[in-house]
Amino acid sequence: MSFFKHTLYSIVLILGSICITPANSSPIVIKFSHVVTPDTPKGKGAEYFKKLVEERTKGNVKVQIYPNSQLYKDKEELEALQLGAVEMLAPSLSKFSPMGFTAFELFDLPYLFSNYNDLHKVTNGKIGQQLLTSLSTKGIKGLGYWDNGFKVMSANKPLVALKDFRGKKMRIQSSRILDAQMRTLGVSPQVMAFSEVYQGLQTGVVDGTEQTPSQIYTQKFFEVQKFITLTNHGYLGYAVVVNKKFWDGLTPQIRSVLEAAMKESTDYVNKIAEQDNQESLAKIKASGRTQLLALTPENQSSLKAALTSIYPEQEKRIGKDVLDAVRKELATN
Ligand code: LMR
Repeated sequence: MSFFKHTLYSIVLILGSICITPANSSPIVIKFSHVVTPDTPKGKGAEYFKKLVEERTKGNVKVQIYPNSQLYKDKEELEALQLGAVEMLAPSLSKFSPMGFTAFELFDLPYLFSNYNDLHKVTNGKIGQQLLTSLSTKGIKGLGYWDNGFKVMSANKPLVALKDFRGKKMRIQSSRILDAQMRTLGVSPQVMAFSEVYQGLQTGVVDGTEQTPSQIYTQKFFEVQKFITLTNHGYLGYAVVVNKKFWDGLTPQIRSVLEAAMKESTDYVNKIAEQDNQESLAKIKASGRTQLLALTPENQSSLKAALTSIYPEQEKRIGKDVLDAVRKELATN
């Protein structure tokens, strides 16, 4: 090889390694902790991201996934992220409000979004971006929104008319909106970590819960719940977040590989989530263990009236300016 060619070859090799190899050349490890099973939209998204990142960095960035609350339960995982014990999470949007990010509660408002399209107007819009940016005050960098889906109600007794809810104990995520939503139905809301819900339902510590079909199927809640009411009254989805210090410490080249992989993983999750939920519902139905109940138009409208009665009080918590901006986004085509 001529001197010129050799030099050129060396430069190419050096540039290539700068692009994807960390300074000390041991792989960068991203520990990605989550609380659901690998065969959910979030679980599949994490696997997809891992595959893209490891392929594109030729293994110089490793993504280690810890599903099913293996490492941390939902509250602990956010603390672990801030401490740098894990690098990446995708907590449900409800889980940011106990940390002081009250505006995230808008996603918990019952009947605010009629479908995924509505939801994406907000998550892909200005408010969605502002919420992700706000996380930086607590050392968290928000990378994107991953869908799960619309929640249904389950219990061992049919929940159809408003009176059926009264006196029930129902598991909720730690959210003031979800708390208010249950109280207005005469339900006693019980905050419980996701990993404890199956046992809570099985032993009767709680009578029921609200959840997406995907979770009810993959966590086997349907084995311990006789009825599911197809209320679709509220949304459950995620923000993918990283430890900001870790993120800022990466080279621009690595960050751009990760950003592109995250964008593609987000598109992937948000494409499969709706179908995943529909298939889960079909599998629950086929199991014959749980009866699926549809609401009559009358029951549907009385449930909606009851749940949306919490708006005036809750708007004050979330912020009228935030909700006005959301309503504007929802009104666009
Ligand atoms: C829940 O606690 O119900 C959900 O946030 C779990 C999850 O991550 O989907």
